[in-house]
Amino acid sequence: MTAALLEVRDLHAGYGRVAVLDGVSLEVPERGLVALVGSNGAGKSTLLRALSGLLRGTTGTIIFGGETLNGAAPAAIVRRGLLHVAEGRRLFRAQSVRDNLALGLWGTRLSKADAAARFDRVYTLFPTLHERQGVRAGILSGGQQQMLAVAQALMHAPRLLMLDEPSLGLAPAVIDQLLDAVVQLRNDGCAILLVEQMVERALQIADTAYVLQNGRVIGHGAARDLRDSDLVRQAYLGAGAKPPAPSIHSSRSPA
Ligand SMILES: Nc1ncnc2c1ncn2[C@@H]1O[C@H](COP(=O)(O)OP(=O)(O)OP(=O)(O)O)[C@@H](O)[C@H]1O
Ligand SMILES: [Mg+2]
Repeated sequence: MTAALLEVRDLHAGYGRVAVLDGVSLEVPERGLVALVGSNGAGKSTLLRALSGLLRGTTGTIIFGGETLNGAAPAAIVRRGLLHVAEGRRLFRAQSVRDNLALGLWGTRLSKADAAARFDRVYTLFPTLHERQGVRAGILSGGQQQMLAVAQALMHAPRLLMLDEPSLGLAPAVIDQLLDAVVQLRNDGCAILLVEQMVERALQIADTAYVLQNGRVIGHGAARDLRDSDLVRQAYLGAGAKPPAPSIHSSRSPA
């Protein structure tokens, strides 16, 4: 068996004295599309922040591409190819689409030809951005801004892209376009860790999924099995759901 691209073991993280993640373990294989689902406040965004080095004082083990990431600075983590597109589309609103993408190349020291190839790649994936390359980011539609936020991360040619709720606030047709691009990216060889509130859609496109509740992984397995199990409903609705189907690896200890 090949080693996972990302391997997280017993991760604890939080904000000052507020503990949020309580021993999270998960794996993202090379070229894998892994969904992370769970209700509001479960700790999904906190997990992505811990992995991208934005939270201090985390404990546990994070191994990425065979190397330990614990304690590495965010910029060093980006250089190793682990990119995080946070909630909320943080763009340079007064700058053009093209300038936002150029800023995405910061720190990469590419040759002109290689930089041009990166632009070509994101413009092929998101033709709308090519059409609107001279337009200020601040006047793009919500969907186009989200595409630009993803494209900016892609300028680093990530090995693993972590997306935090990319569909938030977008119309269904735009969500489909974005998630199609996510599948395309995975098919092109980029591993994806997807946090998504459109749970059904996320489980349709993912290979495997993890269910997070109160800072713990309460189950994981093949995404199609999780779609049919009550575990996900349980994570969103709390009590009242039946036990998980046997094909799912529930992390609950028997009562
Ligand atoms: N900056 C912060 N300071 C203190 N506590 C925080 C901070 N950000 C989040 N929290 C708390 O950490 C817990 C987990 O939050 P987190 O944002 O990781 O959840 P989430 O699963 O991403 O939820 P959502 O689906 O609403 O995005 C929540 O109880 C939240 O109130
Ligand atoms: Mg969140």
